[in-house]
Amino acid sequence: MSGVIEFFGGQNIFVTGASGFLGKVLLEMLLRSCPDVGKIFVLLRPKKGKEPSERVKNITSLPLFDIIRRENPEAVKKIVPLAGDCAQLGLGLSATDRQILEETVSIVIHAAATVRFDDPLKSAVLMNTRGTREIMMIVRNMKKLKVFVHVSTTYCNCDRPVVHEVVYPPHADWKEMISIAEHVDEHTLNVLTPKILCKLPNTYTFTKSLAEHVVKDLGEDLPVVIFRPSIVISTLSEPFPGWIDNFNGPVGLMIAGASEAVTALHQRGVTQQTGATLELVASDVLDHYRTYSLLERLLHNPPKLAEQLAFQIEPQTRRLLIEKYYEFDDAVIRELLGKKLSSRHRKDLDEVSEKTCVLLKSCRRQFDNVKRVFKVVEDMQGSVVQNIKNNFLLPEELARRYGAVVFIACIKFETSKKKLQYLTFPDFYHCAQSIMASWTYVDNGSPEYDDTELDREFLLDLRELRVLLDKEKEHKQ
Ligand SMILES: NC(=O)c1ccc[n+]([C@@H]2O[C@H](COP(=O)([O-])OP(=O)(O)OC[C@H]3O[C@@H](n4cnc5c(N)ncnc54)[C@H](OP(=O)(O)O)[C@@H]3O)[C@@H](O)[C@H]2O)c1
Repeated sequence: MSGVIEFFGGQNIFVTGASGFLGKVLLEMLLRSCPDVGKIFVLLRPKKGKEPSERVKNITSLPLFDIIRRENPEAVKKIVPLAGDCAQLGLGLSATDRQILEETVSIVIHAAATVRFDDPLKSAVLMNTRGTREIMMIVRNMKKLKVFVHVSTTYCNCDRPVVHEVVYPPHADWKEMISIAEHVDEHTLNVLTPKILCKLPNTYTFTKSLAEHVVKDLGEDLPVVIFRPSIVISTLSEPFPGWIDNFNGPVGLMIAGASEAVTALHQRGVTQQTGATLELVASDVLDHYRTYSLLERLLHNPPKLAEQLAFQIEPQTRRLLIEKYYEFDDAVIRELLGKKLSSRHRKDLDEVSEKTCVLLKSCRRQFDNVKRVFKVVEDMQGSVVQNIKNNFLLPEELARRYGAVVFIACIKFETSKKKLQYLTFPDFYHCAQSIMASWTYVDNGSPEYDDTELDREFLLDLRELRVLLDKEKEHKQ
């Protein structure tokens, strides 16, 4: 630690992302642990009507800064707010501020980023990739530069089972991507996004991975560090244990889910049975949540989960995970039956959640699962249930339930009609099973066989039946 204190002594620092979760902890740590640190310039954008100086006041009033306010209140005066915006050219800094940075700063820590996984590609590139280029242009002009630290993420390389300390080949050319983001309209880019992302799962990991290449290319002759945290949760001990200020991504999932799980385990008497403390149970549950958040994507393609080697999962546990992930509530699925599985309807899921009393997150998972299963098997020939079993490794009964949903969607069964409103999912399931068993093409060994298509003769019979019914009506009149 003494080397660290010495290193920062007398140095002026420039920090982006200081108002974020990691940034606040960094600010506090620098002020408390390195008493001789020089000025800390923090780039802040005005937000919710608050100017950067007011934002600094709010940050330093947090309980996180209790020790500093008590022991060294003057230290916060070292924080110098600079108005800017990393998504703008030149980081939106004034010419004067830029000059001050270039002439006086020796340590730069770039932590600002949009960390939303589902940001549109355009804004994510402009912020995470172009923003990094813009800071590199300033860093390149710094006369006293000692180090530039770029806060990246391990998940830049989540397409690899093992990540070493190297910058892997790029998924795209960052210069081209910036130019595309600057010139192509947002709608077109949204349509192209899945193709552009290549092997990466979202715009966050993609744009952060390009940012590493910006740093590598523009910082080749500079003292640069790329720091790749994985999942950062609350503080362990300093300035006090358990500080956290957000419920982003895994943290939200972990806190919400883990506290519920710990309560359930506690009620079941796990602490008494095992002699473990509640903290130990909580820590174990958090570990499981962390692993789960890493492997959730693999659950979208269960055969991949079965093949992968990164997670050692017993076959029995794997089966349980898949089954639980794909389970659905009758009430939720009844609401989805007959609706287009479009993004517009996904947005309306809060109504479904309210009506069915099922958590919105769960409704979304169920919606996405049904959509995924439908997309994979809708055009496949052969038994729909068998296709679902093969492609999603689901147990027989669950595959049959999905089979009924797919069948109802394929034959465009008008389940939303007013007259049918009283019917529940089990009613439709029963109908779908009966129709599939008696009135679709039966397996005659031909590759053309398809049990989501109604038998033509059955349809002709239906038509004749309708004529007869009409005639009977006429007769009665
Ligand atoms: N937390 C983790 O588990 C984790 C894991 C791996 C890597 N990381 C990396 O660590 C860094 C910080 O993450 P975090 O968890 O602290 O995220 P965070 O709490 O969401 O903070 C993001 C920071 O970036 C700033 N920012 C966003 N857009 C900006 C813009 N246009 N101009 C200026 N500032 C902008 C935010 O400022 P406002 O207050 O104005 O919004 C905020 O200070 C990120 O680079 C992230 O990729 C985090």
